[in-house]
Amino acid sequence: MITRDLSIAREHLQRGQVIGLPTETVYGLAGNAFDPQAVQQIYAIKQRPATNPLIVHVGSIAQAEDLVTEFPAPLRKLAEHFWPGPLTLLLKKSDRIPDVVTAGSDRVAIRIPDHPLTLELLNQLDFPLVAPSANPYTRISPTRAEEVEAYFGEQIPVVLQGGACEKGLESTIVGSEDDQVVVYRLGSLSVEELEAVSGKVQIKNRDNPSVLAPGMAKKHYSPQTPLILVDDIDSFLQTHPEERIGVFLSGQEDPEAIAPIFYARLKHLDQSGYDRLIASYFPEKGLGRTLNDRLNRAKE
Ligand code: TXA
Ligand code: MG
Repeated sequence: MITRDLSIAREHLQRGQVIGLPTETVYGLAGNAFDPQAVQQIYAIKQRPATNPLIVHVGSIAQAEDLVTEFPAPLRKLAEHFWPGPLTLLLKKSDRIPDVVTAGSDRVAIRIPDHPLTLELLNQLDFPLVAPSANPYTRISPTRAEEVEAYFGEQIPVVLQGGACEKGLESTIVGSEDDQVVVYRLGSLSVEELEAVSGKVQIKNRDNPSVLAPGMAKKHYSPQTPLILVDDIDSFLQTHPEERIGVFLSGQEDPEAIAPIFYARLKHLDQSGYDRLIASYFPEKGLGRTLNDRLNRAKE
């Protein structure tokens, strides 16, 4: 069931159930972060390996402080600047966070989402919410309530209707190593925006064995139709006249304009009966960098 009624969403969460809810980035599959059974249920519904930890969502910086043992100055500065917003911080966890949330790691991922309904919900609850993106493991992230319902049906009692996600790409995950700011997952907040506040950051986003975010498995966000990346769309089309090819992105689009519709468009093309989807990379800057990362994870 899709509802706009916050009290229905709240009551389900208070009973230990898992619901779908909107954020400004993508929809999440949410449950009580202090309730290990609710957290387990999220892993099960999502079919996500228990080694891949979940992000904790809170309504204020004060709530975040209650869940961590340290808040390094460079990260605090980012929190003050970008929260509520698409920034997730990796911080040393306190004992209040069950180990199942962090998959055993001593760091917890925390953010304040910037969606009015979900912010209000978080501030009504006396517990934080864990929420991974509301897609089955490796599938395309949802940016509308209807997609969440289509993915999980009766497995979840409600999805809170918050409209289409404004950003459309997951949050940027950031931590610190020796006071140096490190980006572990590229996301809706661009590297340039981060660097404007914190100076030069280090990027450990991809296929780096020392990366702490195990969720950054290479294959992710995948369509079921094979997607390939090509340099020249026109010549590919000309040399493959016998195939039904869906052109996903030409690389000429404005990344800021594409980001909010990236997943919806990929999903639409995936369901349109093509033999293959093709796309070209964006210039490596701003959200183009994040889109290229998602293209790499979605490709064949
Ligand atoms: O925008 C977002 O971040 C969305 C919305 C719903 O908030 N959530 C989201 O969650 O994208 P998820 O679970 O799909 O991706 C979270 C990523 C995973 O790659 C996971 O491995 C990483 O965050 N992560 C979570 N907790 C972590 C931790 N304690 N240490 C390292 N990585 C962590
Ligand atoms: Mg995800």
